[in-house]
Amino acid sequence: MSSNKSCYCTIVLFIFATSWYHVASSLSYSEESMSIKHEKWMAQHGFSYENEKVKEARFQIFKDNVQHIDRHNQEGNHTYKLGLNKFADLTNEEFLAKYARSSMQSFKVASSYQSSFEYTNIKDIPPSLDWRDHNAVTAVANQGTCGTCWAFSAVATIEGIAAIRSGNLKKLSEQHILDCNYMHEGCKGGRQNSAFEFVIKNGGLASDTDYPYIGIQTACANNKPSSLSLNITGFGFIPPNNETALLAAVANQPVSVDVDITILQFYRSGILTGECGTNLNHAVTVVGYGESDDGVKFWLVKNSWGRGWGDDGYIKLQRNVNAIEGMCGIAMIGCYPIA
Ligand SMILES: *[C@@H]1O[C@H](CO)[C@@H](O)[C@H](O)[C@H]1NC(C)=O
Ligand SMILES: *[C@@H]1O[C@H](CO)[C@@H](O)[C@H](O)[C@H]1NC(C)=O
Ligand SMILES: *[C@@H]1O[C@H](CO)[C@@H](O)[C@H](O)[C@H]1NC(C)=O
Repeated sequence: MSSNKSCYCTIVLFIFATSWYHVASSLSYSEESMSIKHEKWMAQHGFSYENEKVKEARFQIFKDNVQHIDRHNQEGNHTYKLGLNKFADLTNEEFLAKYARSSMQSFKVASSYQSSFEYTNIKDIPPSLDWRDHNAVTAVANQGTCGTCWAFSAVATIEGIAAIRSGNLKKLSEQHILDCNYMHEGCKGGRQNSAFEFVIKNGGLASDTDYPYIGIQTACANNKPSSLSLNITGFGFIPPNNETALLAAVANQPVSVDVDITILQFYRSGILTGECGTNLNHAVTVVGYGESDDGVKFWLVKNSWGRGWGDDGYIKLQRNVNAIEGMCGIAMIGCYPIA
């Protein structure tokens, strides 16, 4: 009897203790534990602040972000997780001001290098594909605070088609495009087609080794050898708002797309489903697609915010959603180089 009773007691205590712990960790962090977390995060990212006042202000934002991330992860009804990363002391507005490109209104300019969509009658599209498995995707890069997503996205597609055709994967130079592109688009943003046009007219592109990324626009040094194994002769756009057409293209080569990154500041892993905007403000590269074990179809997307963001630098966005624009607007504007 008495042993039963004590056992029962222990269970009650255990349940009480774990639920209390759960509430404590989800709602009321001690100032001290938050402060330690902030210091650790600063050390991890090599960040420091110019004075205590700035540090205190950043600490308040950091706390809000930690609570936002933990709340999301503990709700337990999401298909994706959030995580702390280098953006953790920025408000969402600051994050967007720093990392989002302004409106994409002028994206489509007439160009003699633009061809009509070629992947219209593609049969035998595999149910899943990851171009990384075919040695057609280079390591995730970090664009820094220079707004060069357009160059990274375009270069990733050029590296992809070159690797698929030649069997040889080479890291090519975003900096070459940033410094030398004829439309003088730079760290304030640009368009992928202007990157393609530069590579076409220039007759090639330097390797990243010969022309390394420094993340600021400098004088054009157009005297490096091209490391492209083929000639880029044009580019095509995906018919807008059509995930079927996007699939046909991605089944043949990595494709550059624009997305709305507003809610992606702290994405860590899983398939992004649910609400997302369609105010296109960032360029990324679709390098594959597939379906999860529980039947959620996704696009596999390479970003250029380093490996510390997202799932080792990647994100999975739900595929074949009800809205024609696609998740986060992924189907609205897509383009790819022609070789
Ligand atoms: C998840 O649960 C939270 C809290 O109950 C709720 O506010 C939110 O709308 C839910 N989200 C989804 C995607 O179901
Ligand atoms: C989407 O693209 C596919 C493949 O190019 C095409 O067959 C289909 O008609 C398009 N759908 C719409 C609604 O335009
Ligand atoms: C690109 O095209 C030019 C002209 O047709 C040709 O001479 C050259 O060999 C091509 N370059 C590559 C890398 O295929």
